[in-house]
Amino acid sequence: MTPASSRSSLPSGLRWSAATSAFQIEGSRPTGISGRSIWDDFLERPGAILDGSVADPACDSYRHPEADVALAAGLGLDRYRFSIPWARVQPDGLGRGDGVALDHYSHLVDLLLDAGVVPFPTLFHWEMPSRIEAGGGWLERDTAERFADYAAIVADRLGDRVQHWYTLNEPAMTTLQGYAVGALAPGKQLLFGALPTAHHQLLAHARAAAALRERGAASVGLVNNHTWVLPLLDTADDHRAAAIYDLIHNRVFSEPLLAGSYPDLEALGLPPMPVQDGDLEAIGRSIDFYGINFYNPTTVTAAGEESPIPFDIVPTPGVPVTGFGPEWPIMPSALHDLLIDLHARHPQLPPVIIGENGASFPEPDRAARVDDADRISYLADHIAAVGDAIDAGVPVEEYTVWSLLDNWEWADGYTQRFGLVHVDFDTGERTPKASYDWYREVIASSRAAV
Ligand code: NOJ
Repeated sequence: MTPASSRSSLPSGLRWSAATSAFQIEGSRPTGISGRSIWDDFLERPGAILDGSVADPACDSYRHPEADVALAAGLGLDRYRFSIPWARVQPDGLGRGDGVALDHYSHLVDLLLDAGVVPFPTLFHWEMPSRIEAGGGWLERDTAERFADYAAIVADRLGDRVQHWYTLNEPAMTTLQGYAVGALAPGKQLLFGALPTAHHQLLAHARAAAALRERGAASVGLVNNHTWVLPLLDTADDHRAAAIYDLIHNRVFSEPLLAGSYPDLEALGLPPMPVQDGDLEAIGRSIDFYGINFYNPTTVTAAGEESPIPFDIVPTPGVPVTGFGPEWPIMPSALHDLLIDLHARHPQLPPVIIGENGASFPEPDRAARVDDADRISYLADHIAAVGDAIDAGVPVEEYTVWSLLDNWEWADGYTQRFGLVHVDFDTGERTPKASYDWYREVIASSRAAV
């Protein structure tokens, strides 16, 4: 086994997981109006998806959930993180749950439990029902109540067997990429006008968390994707640009949950959040654990005066990159620094779960055994960074690899492979990579050490 590189031992006592999301693996997309999500709409926009693909059949997981469960069990995972798509359960985002969809996810939960893997679903991994988006989506406060109704429907059906829930995945990406710049669904370009979607998502999380707890949930959290923000130059302008980026990517989403308040947006010239009485109290009491997805640091520099936003994101100098190129620099120390910084800002941090961490690299399309030493080294170095943060007192309890298997990478289509398992998207053939065997040994040896 390749040990976590900068440490002689694995962090002890961690739970191990791997993740997927429904739209990225399931295929079997709806053909009619009902059950459509914003991603069904977005991928039909000319040019929206890099390779013009349509996420169907993807990994064909809706028709073959047992194949994924066997892979999860083969790794010896403690938990499997998967998502339940709102638009399948409530095709119009309103009313009763769809029995066929609920049966499907109930079956998936049973398969996992029978295989000895704890099911850990995410209720919103970016698939807003199109009808809800047509009414304003996350720009509308009422969407928070709609989301809580959906959470209640799922918990009424699965809550006898599912104890742990993620509500939202990466609300910052929905706000920034979905509503501010339009690179992800729903493809709106509102710039700072997108900020209310942050508050409405956090409120939705709080409302859903209450509904889940009323139905017996043991633990509820959401997963924020955090980045470690670096100024390109040691100048006042670049530090200010970094502070603004840190605020809108990280702190707007972490502080209401961890401190019960928003950072001072107005001091940096940003519009205030549409907060109503009681919102911050509800959000501040809403998590049993704090989920963090981490992939890379972000280097920013001050933008020119003609730019509508005050920062530019630039390549991080002097570090290797993943399959995305300079957009996705590799810097494991950034995960360590981020965890230490978060803990210093919030000494009462609840248990932390790394909800996603992983990397894509260029790999063959046809079925093949891939010797992905680059992925093993990325994962080992990041697990080591987590271990060092735990040694320094950060309460990390769980680590999750993105992804169990190669899948459909949103606007990048099938061009980026993140899996521990290779998928031939023409034949559906799944072939474990070297990293799958490596992760299985990491899990086994960490258990043996306890
Ligand atoms: C975060 C998202 O949650 C996931 O859906 C995506 O595929 C990975 N990052 C990699 O970009």
